[in-house]
Amino acid sequence: VETGLGSAHGKAILLGEHAVVYGAPAIVLPLLDLQATASIRRSRRGYITSDLYTGPLASAPRHMGPVLTALRVSAEQLDVRADRVELILRSTIPFERGLGSSAATSAAVVRAVANLAGERLSAAQTHDLVQEAEHVAHGTSSGLDAHAVQSMTPLRFQQGKPTTVKVADKCTFVIADTGTSGSTAAAVDGVSMLRDVQSRVVDRVVEDLANLTDDVVYSLGLGDPLRVGQSMHEAHSLLAYLGVSSPALDAVVAAALEAGAYGAKLTGSGLGGCVLAVVPDQEQAGDVAAAMTAVGATRTWTTTLTPNDFDL
Ligand code: MEV
Repeated sequence: VETGLGSAHGKAILLGEHAVVYGAPAIVLPLLDLQATASIRRSRRGYITSDLYTGPLASAPRHMGPVLTALRVSAEQLDVRADRVELILRSTIPFERGLGSSAATSAAVVRAVANLAGERLSAAQTHDLVQEAEHVAHGTSSGLDAHAVQSMTPLRFQQGKPTTVKVADKCTFVIADTGTSGSTAAAVDGVSMLRDVQSRVVDRVVEDLANLTDDVVYSLGLGDPLRVGQSMHEAHSLLAYLGVSSPALDAVVAAALEAGAYGAKLTGSGLGGCVLAVVPDQEQAGDVAAAMTAVGATRTWTTTLTPNDFDL
């Protein structure tokens, strides 16, 4: 091939953020309409074109570190010269909003390099290469994103191990961006500091979040979005208790509920970023999105999970 192509999609955490850091399970949803794509070809000069930086590979700024790591480690494995390529990146996943933009971009690069080399990587091989890039992006991370951006179905994720979640009936979600980005490191550190002074209370909250996550797995398996919403609603209160919500997130959550959502919560590390709401149907999704926009959300997306044939 002359040009290697690769893509991967965004993700949203349905439930279990923060608790997953302490060994609890989390559920992630694929956001198939949000895509990162990479195209790569051999060239005498090393060059990158992207929304965040365009210029020689050799003088790319620090924030390009994860992408460059994805390029370097995959090129090494696939016998491509990483300094002699032209790479073009495109993404419709907003940056630093907890929707998996860095992992999806890295996965797109890894797949594009494999395509250029005429090789097929297994999902596990792609995951390991993406996880190396994620390590550069976030330091130690639970590894959730590297799995989520490759999966077409929701995943339950615990202690590094993903399993497919059964979806019995259509379930529609609205995601709203508050237009601010919270620092994942600050949010994770804040929870850890709270745990230092109130370990029993925080451990209890983590346990409650773990139970809510498994309630949601069960409710999706029954096709009961109302019950999914009730668990999400409780989870938002617990996350607020842990100190990772914000006035903007709370306002968007309240607006969603008032407009008829079954439940809504912050998604990702919090302190900013996005809200995820579950709604009765596509029609209600429009009303809920409008209500979230009216209180300040800068963008909204709708995604519908379709039933899978997975047998539990
Ligand atoms: C951040 O997207 C999710 C957290 O649970 C951190 C992690 O899992 O690495 C807050």
